[in-house]
Amino acid sequence: MTESESSNIDVIFSPEVINNRVHELAGEIRNAGLDNLLVIAVLKGSFIFAADLIRALHEVGLSPEVDFITLSSYRKGTQSSGRVEILRDIDLDVTGRNILLVDDILESGRTLAFAKDLLAARGARQISTCVLLRKELNRAVDIEADFHAFDCPELFVVGYGMDVAYRYRQLPFVGCITRD
Ligand code: IMP
Ligand code: MG
Repeated sequence: MTESESSNIDVIFSPEVINNRVHELAGEIRNAGLDNLLVIAVLKGSFIFAADLIRALHEVGLSPEVDFITLSSYRKGTQSSGRVEILRDIDLDVTGRNILLVDDILESGRTLAFAKDLLAARGARQISTCVLLRKELNRAVDIEADFHAFDCPELFVVGYGMDVAYRYRQLPFVGCITRD
């Protein structure tokens, strides 16, 4: 991180706070008793969260299979435009599986609803959803996450895998840009 890049960003969730919460979340997921779990991470924004979460799941004794789907929600700048498209699909057959869908942010709900409907149509047995951040306003679809790490202020956030124009994913914290 360059000096100028770090000074542009206010920290909202620090690495320590995220780490503690991700471990708690893994306990919550284990306590839900989902057997034979398949974790599907929605790329790209969830890649760091998913990496930390699956290792925390291992620590609480789970051995999930893991696959990835890349979805595009066609955002214009920082606004969701409504259409969701599959850029790269999962490899596995989900018929009869218990799935944990992992995403970075739930905002309009379109991305998560699209992924959930897709997996249900393919015959998944049960689909639970887990997001790092939950924004409350701007929901366009009636969907809530079964698990979420944090409620997020209504700001455009970056870091911990999340980007603006491919930047800031490397930051170890979640923050918001104060000026560019
Ligand atoms: P939804 O389909 O509107 O729920 O949008 C969720 C997706 O939009 C997330 O998976 C993110 O990729 C993206 N997104 C929404 N808000 C933010 C933000 O504040 N920062 C970065 N990405 C965001
Ligand atoms: Mg996303």
